Amino acid sequence: MLRILSNPIVQTHITRLRSEDTKALAFRTLVKEISKILLYEALHSAKMVDTNIQTWRGEETFKSLDTSSYIVVTVLRAGMPMLESVMETLPDIEAGFLAIKRDETTHESKLYYDRLPDCSGKSVIIVDVMLATGGSMCDAIDIVKSKNAQEIICLNIIAAPEGLKVVQEKHPDVDIYLAQKDEKLNKDKFIIPGLGDAGDREYNTIA
Ligand code: PRP
Repeated sequence: MLRILSNPIVQTHITRLRSEDTKALAFRTLVKEISKILLYEALHSAKMVDTNIQTWRGEETFKSLDTSSYIVVTVLRAGMPMLESVMETLPDIEAGFLAIKRDETTHESKLYYDRLPDCSGKSVIIVDVMLATGGSMCDAIDIVKSKNAQEIICLNIIAAPEGLKVVQEKHPDVDIYLAQKDEKLNKDKFIIPGLGDAGDREYNTIA
């Protein structure tokens, strides 16, 4: 399932992300804001559990999200602010990390490090800013599947149609929540119009 947000606030945030005037701190803040909206959308029908709490009237039971059934997994580096955003919204959620880097010549993604908690029976939310060829996301999904996740949800900010097709064909069981579908990939496999390199813009490493 692919759900593309067509919300004016999200589109305005993305226009600011595209602007070269948007420097690292503002860029990361916008990424976090968009991530929060994607998360709200992705969890709109999430399972709720009864929670006993002490209130001014004594002990009472109210509904809350069953955070223990979710894990958030980020694809380094660009996905880091997205992970922060999810953890600010759901402070008790478990987190995992995948260091995946796309080779700049072959455009193949390569895994350097993975540190995931046990995913058995869990809903795993994978976050990454860009989905270009789809290679990094397919690798991330393969790894999470190998850890026996029950359900996988991807949150992405910008995607190219070519990469979306690859991920949807290889993993039709995965739900993708996307803020903006862009036009295409160029010959160097950069998203057009895109944002530039999201990791570089977040962490001040623009050459
Ligand atoms: C970018 C981006 C995604 C990946 C998408 O990361 O953040 O992880 O490329 O490309 P793909 O769909 O073609 O695999 P990059 O490898 O540049 O690493 P970085 O986040 O450290 O900059």
